[in-house]
Amino acid sequence: MGGFQLEGLVGALLYVLPAYVANGAPVVLVRAVPRPRPLDMGRTFPDGRRILGDGKTFEGLAGGLLSGTLIGALLSLLSPGLFRSPLEPLALSCGAMLGDVLGSFAKRRLGISQGGPLPVIDQVGFLAVALLLSWSLYGPKEWSDASTLALLFLVTAALHLGTNAGAYLLGLKSRWY
Ligand code: CTP
Ligand code: MG
Repeated sequence: MGGFQLEGLVGALLYVLPAYVANGAPVVLVRAVPRPRPLDMGRTFPDGRRILGDGKTFEGLAGGLLSGTLIGALLSLLSPGLFRSPLEPLALSCGAMLGDVLGSFAKRRLGISQGGPLPVIDQVGFLAVALLLSWSLYGPKEWSDASTLALLFLVTAALHLGTNAGAYLLGLKSRWY
């Protein structure tokens, strides 16, 4: 076998933490906003459905970008060299939010209403776009072999389902997935 090393996975998880935080923060932060404004301004696509839907807001986007970048700055202090540039956590956060928005766009085009499930895309779409964006700017990281990447996506899917179920139990989300 070869390939898999625990330190590789730990390094990978630390590296993608800004993307996780950017993806998760809006669920909590947007609750503090009285009337969050949808990114699509309520507009519909030519297919008659919302472009993105009410689940993607300006406040959530700003909160996600800010939270992910802040966590990245903190991580950079604790682990110098984790990020190749101080802007890399911002790239990871932007990629995460872009992946999330693209996922909602695809879901609406498929006729899945806001909050409805699109397995795989819902859990790991944000990570795929975050890694694509940060690696196209700064190059791949040393742990980026196929087995570590596969494991990272599996762990991310499990964590996403786990934290979502936790948010549901806390009353933060109306659906368990
Ligand atoms: N959220 C937000 N703005 C964003 C991303 C998320 O306000 N850019 C908030 C919304 O309150 C959203 C919640 O975080 O309902 C959970 O996000 P997500 O699961 O991505 O959205 P869904 O409501 O499931 O909508 P969709 O079906 O479009 O994914
Ligand atoms: Mg959802």
